[in-house]
Amino acid sequence: MQLITGKAKIAAVLGWPIIHSRSPLLHNFWLQRHQIDGAYIPLAVKTEDFNSVIKGMMAAGFKGCNVTIPHKEAAYQCCDHVDETAKKMGSVNTLWFTEDGKIHGTSTDGAGFVASLNDAGVNVSNKKILVLGAGGAARSVAYSLQQDGALVTITNRTIKRAEQLVQDLGGGDVVEWQSWSQELGKFDVLVNTTSLGMEGKEDFQFDLQKALPTLVVTDIVYVPRVTPLLAAAQQKGLKTVEGLGMLLHQARLGFAKWYGVDPKVDRELTEFVASSLKK
Ligand code: ATR
Repeated sequence: MQLITGKAKIAAVLGWPIIHSRSPLLHNFWLQRHQIDGAYIPLAVKTEDFNSVIKGMMAAGFKGCNVTIPHKEAAYQCCDHVDETAKKMGSVNTLWFTEDGKIHGTSTDGAGFVASLNDAGVNVSNKKILVLGAGGAARSVAYSLQQDGALVTITNRTIKRAEQLVQDLGGGDVVEWQSWSQELGKFDVLVNTTSLGMEGKEDFQFDLQKALPTLVVTDIVYVPRVTPLLAAAQQKGLKTVEGLGMLLHQARLGFAKWYGVDPKVDRELTEFVASSLKK
């Protein structure tokens, strides 16, 4: 077992609530695997305390942190340096602190999603992709898909949000929520970025009848691991990519920045994190 010494590199995840976060498990798994003298801890931080906690972490020598709901926008605001992805999102999920006292930030959710698809053997370049949802998750996913050359169409219950997203992305189509299943035959990939299908949320009504046999179906929901949408797609014999891969891949950049090692997403890690979802 790797013990923590006085020289340990420390990072954290900040959220409210934070008890459901799988990030501590995931990062500490990698720390053990690479025998790194370091730790990654969950911090339950209220909105009003966010900035003072960040200052405190910097003063205490933390290397950086992940942020989750509800801090992603506040984290963007506190950065000294952000990249193009973060600017496009107006939010970040990964911060790293440099020796000159500066805060750097980016949003790795979208890149994590695309990496997860690539890992599953799905190349998105020139693919027609239908994105269900127009919230923050859809924004990250759609932006990264476009960056990798995909042709994105957005559908959302509230159509105004879909139109706004396409406008902000600088391209893409919109279809009405009521008619996406009718249009499904035009697409190579379907991705659900809404919370529909998540354990404890309302039922998700969908119809995959028009799907091409080559359609790839993905979901960013990972509890349950096989969502009703993925289960229905599998039943039709369609290729599916589960949401857990995005969670694992989005974590890699932060780990590399804080601890200096680019960690791998593999079956052992996936099964380890997946087993924690059953508890
Ligand atoms: P996040 O940042 O996690 O994406 P969000 O901004 O609240 O969260 O977005 C949630 C997404 O799920 C939205 O696309 C939302 O649709 P609306 O914009 O119409 O609210 C979608 N969503 C949530 N519940 C839904 C439901 N019952 N039916 C259809 N879409 C739903």
